[in-house]
Amino acid sequence: MTAKPLKRVLVTGGAGQIAYNLLFRIATGEMLGFDQPLALHILELPEAMKPLEGVRMELEDCAFPLLKEVHIGSDAEELFGDVHYALLVGAKPRGPGMERGDLLKENAKIFIEQGRALNSVADPDVKVLVVGNPCNTNCLITMTNAPRIPRKNFHAMTRLDQNRAVAQLALRAHVEVSSITNMTIWGNHSSTQVPDFVNAKISGKPVLDVIKDHSWLENEFVGTVQKRGAAVIASRGKSSAASAASSAIDAIKSLVTPTPRGEWFSSGVCSDENSYGVQENLIFSFPCRSKGDGHYEIVDNIPWNTFLREKIHASERELLEERSLLEGGVS
Ligand SMILES: NC(=O)c1ccc[n+]([C@@H]2O[C@H](COP(=O)([O-])OP(=O)(O)OC[C@H]3O[C@@H](n4cnc5c(N)ncnc54)[C@H](O)[C@@H]3O)[C@@H](O)[C@H]2O)c1
Repeated sequence: MTAKPLKRVLVTGGAGQIAYNLLFRIATGEMLGFDQPLALHILELPEAMKPLEGVRMELEDCAFPLLKEVHIGSDAEELFGDVHYALLVGAKPRGPGMERGDLLKENAKIFIEQGRALNSVADPDVKVLVVGNPCNTNCLITMTNAPRIPRKNFHAMTRLDQNRAVAQLALRAHVEVSSITNMTIWGNHSSTQVPDFVNAKISGKPVLDVIKDHSWLENEFVGTVQKRGAAVIASRGKSSAASAASSAIDAIKSLVTPTPRGEWFSSGVCSDENSYGVQENLIFSFPCRSKGDGHYEIVDNIPWNTFLREKIHASERELLEERSLLEGGVS
């Protein structure tokens, strides 16, 4: 049997903690399939090239059969050439005393540059997953600066939120995580996100038929998922890394494997005139499904009750505010 053609996977922030949990799993074949030969393209800032060189050595030392090439560097235009998947992880963290607007603008500079580099040299059908925060707005900036690439190829990662929500429901209902399906995260990857327990299912039944405690669902469950990132930082002293990496793998896997009939997954994708009345041109987390060809469609007609509607609109307002903070601030 002839080998499949090589797929090129770009990861930025290659010397960071998420990348250290991500690169090796991609290289085993977990993300794109155990018969898919790979090239890794890994971007870092010039000052982090030494630790990245160490990561490159370790990748080599694993002798992964699928990993045919590893390219490292700090020049986006050079490294983004012909990539089929771009996982944009590297971002500027919030510094002491930094306002949210400043953080957005500092990150905007990074994602403008990377969007332009994708636009000029990446594969024209490259699938882009933005992980670096604030990931929805960073994704919007990347997409806006890469007009050659279809808008439907851009995602902001809300899969970690989905996975956190699934785990909390499974714990509460004393069932396997695989019994939880149809878990939507609506909106922004932030504390305004809306984990939708109304439409999620446990062993095919509505969550509300299995977990009768509405107050727990509306308060503890939603609050735990919204604030899980902060809870991990408070406990570990560092932000989620292994779980973020694992969710990035899940996010791409969901695009390259067919979604089981009647199910869906969550991803931050661009809103259009048909997406639940959410203002157009926001990167907003919706329920999506895929035929496994790398593309997705938003699942429509999922009902919102008053509780969901109010919260989803608050998350939409936050994303509008993030977008407006940038307008005029960066070009
Ligand atoms: N969407 C999510 O669910 C989710 C979850 C966890 C973390 N995150 C975000 O992911 C990002 C990375 O997290 P981490 O823990 O790996 O951080 P980290 O600080 O350990 O690593 C980030 C790396 O990115 C590099 N970097 C910064 N600017 C860069 C640029 N312009 N080009 C290339 N590399 C650059 C840094 O040098 C650093 O090595 C953060 O923004 C974090 O908030 C998102």
